[in-house]
Amino acid sequence: MRRLFPVPVPAPAETPTGTPTGRPAETPAGTSAGTPVGTSDATTAGISAETPAENREWALGELADAYAYPEPPHGPSGAFLRANMVSSLDGAAQHDGRSKPLSSDADMRIFGVLRGLADAVVVGAETARREGYRPARAREAFAKRRAALGQSPAPAIAVVSASLDLDFSQPLFTEPLVPTIVITGATAAEERIEAARAAGAEVVFAGAGPSGRVGAAAIVTALAELGHTRLLTEGGPTLLAEFAAAGVLDELCLAVAPLVTAGDAKRIMNGPVLGEPERFTLASVLEEAGFLFTRYRRIYQ
Ligand SMILES: NC(=O)c1ccc[n+]([C@@H]2O[C@H](COP(=O)([O-])OP(=O)(O)OC[C@H]3O[C@@H](n4cnc5c(N)ncnc54)[C@H](OP(=O)(O)O)[C@@H]3O)[C@@H](O)[C@H]2O)c1
Repeated sequence: MRRLFPVPVPAPAETPTGTPTGRPAETPAGTSAGTPVGTSDATTAGISAETPAENREWALGELADAYAYPEPPHGPSGAFLRANMVSSLDGAAQHDGRSKPLSSDADMRIFGVLRGLADAVVVGAETARREGYRPARAREAFAKRRAALGQSPAPAIAVVSASLDLDFSQPLFTEPLVPTIVITGATAAEERIEAARAAGAEVVFAGAGPSGRVGAAAIVTALAELGHTRLLTEGGPTLLAEFAAAGVLDELCLAVAPLVTAGDAKRIMNGPVLGEPERFTLASVLEEAGFLFTRYRRIYQ
């Protein structure tokens, strides 16, 4: 993995003892490398002294430093919503109905790191159904960092659904470390709400739209009220477009896969066009095996 942006500052010349300075120490995978940092600016400062374009495997701790959530205060809801998506060069967000054909080992590694940093992972029901979502795991690599921030050992998965047409016998609902959250509208079908609760899910109502639909901003507010302020959404495109339209998407981590698919696959956002394009600024770019791991922050108007 190489850092392409911010452009790395060359490491200083070797010390008389021959020990390189300024670079984070190599640590076993899963441990934190270098100084723990909490904001992206500090992160940049903390790991800037490295050999330009150096290509090496990053420890999970280094990736976690690079992707650390900004310190509060966040937006009006008190939460920070980050999205993690992968796209082909020609803009496809799915192939054969799934995102896996677009992914890579490095993409999955970053996927895991972003989960390791989040309080809750918000996902649209169609993605949960198609990708066979399971509960998030507690991973040793993130245990200390999570404990220090007062986070549960693993993030909660929050599934957004109007229909509640979900298989509540699945481990996602019956075996999570922290109860899976089902976010729906006040008019959702009573028997499906009961089925969700019977399986162990926490049902959260976020709005009174028709047929169980919820407002995207209300999802963020509802999760923040549960104490989940470091939010990660893994899409899918329908839900992500709603977050963007509601003006609550703070950051987009977009992996650009060196693949083309043509066809009529969904883009990473699939919803009504925005009145005005929303502007983002580039925060960082990593590269591995031709995949670009970009991170864009929303510019608040
Ligand atoms: N490239 C990537 O990074 C990536 C990431 C994720 C997914 N994907 C792909 O994207 C596809 C699935 O995405 P999708 O756009 O079809 O679906 P989606 O966004 O994952 O889920 C849509 C569903 O979420 C629920 N939902 C969304 N907004 C809602 C609201 N405001 N109120 C209540 N419920 C709401 C509804 O569920 P109900 O139908 O239950 O009411 C809706 O049908 C899959 O092929 C998946 O592999 C790709």
